[in-house]
Amino acid sequence: MTSLAVMGAGRIGGEMAFLATVLGLADEITLYDINRPLLEAQILELSHTGLDVRLSTDPAAIAGADIAVFAAGSPRNPGIRTRADLLGVNLPVADHCCRLLRGFDGVLVTITNPMDANNYYLWKTLGLPRERCIGFGGQLDSARFRIFMKECGMDGPAWVLGEHGEHQVPLFSHLGREVPVEERDAILARMRGSSMPVIKGKGGTVFGPAWHIFNLLKCIALNGRQVVPVSCILDGEYGVQTCSLGVPARIGRNGIEEIYEWTLDDWEEARFRDAAESSCVLCRRSDA
Ligand code: LAC
Repeated sequence: MTSLAVMGAGRIGGEMAFLATVLGLADEITLYDINRPLLEAQILELSHTGLDVRLSTDPAAIAGADIAVFAAGSPRNPGIRTRADLLGVNLPVADHCCRLLRGFDGVLVTITNPMDANNYYLWKTLGLPRERCIGFGGQLDSARFRIFMKECGMDGPAWVLGEHGEHQVPLFSHLGREVPVEERDAILARMRGSSMPVIKGKGGTVFGPAWHIFNLLKCIALNGRQVVPVSCILDGEYGVQTCSLGVPARIGRNGIEEIYEWTLDDWEEARFRDAAESSCVLCRRSDA
């Protein structure tokens, strides 16, 4: 028995609610959006699946949900190059959603960009234990990393830590072979630009994020206890404090069970430091 609340019923929030409905993730789904006609259309269409899921648009149900997803706000467009550029426009949205979440004591998953800074902001504002604030992005970055590696004839575990943004950190040291710096830099450059063709062609990414979010929610709802790359509020891990950043973590019904501190090589370590600095700057700006 899981109740799910999704704040933001647009592209990613809507697709995710659809997956949660048809794949039986939750028996109760509450959708929220300030765009009332969109919200009602999404709920109506979900009801047309005819599946046995309780669907609601009652904002009062959000705070009582087992899992809440923050997916509201503005997405990037071809004119907004980096996710960090969305902080100003999406912080007020995060603030609005914090009011809906007052009293919430489930697991919160942040999607809205800049995801790491928003995850930090929601954690700080709501006063939730850090174990219950999970930022999504690392699984999607890792899937993209795997695709580019394969195209370059490499195989092995694909892990991306750091920021969900310009400062993402693909772990080449886990591949069991030496990858030259030029090759690493070239793959990283492709990863940074990987969502822009989708944004240009169809207005935003949907299928990739929705699928990986679904898997993350499944891991929470079913107490999957898998280790996945997610953004966590760090408290000294990797020598980082006061920001949210992508790290390997074991995820279960109560959120983050354990954060793993893996050894990084010099190239990865330097980029992880850049990621921490960038995320801390954004988190401080969200504090102001
Ligand atoms: C992406 C969005 C979710 O990377 O940031 O597609």
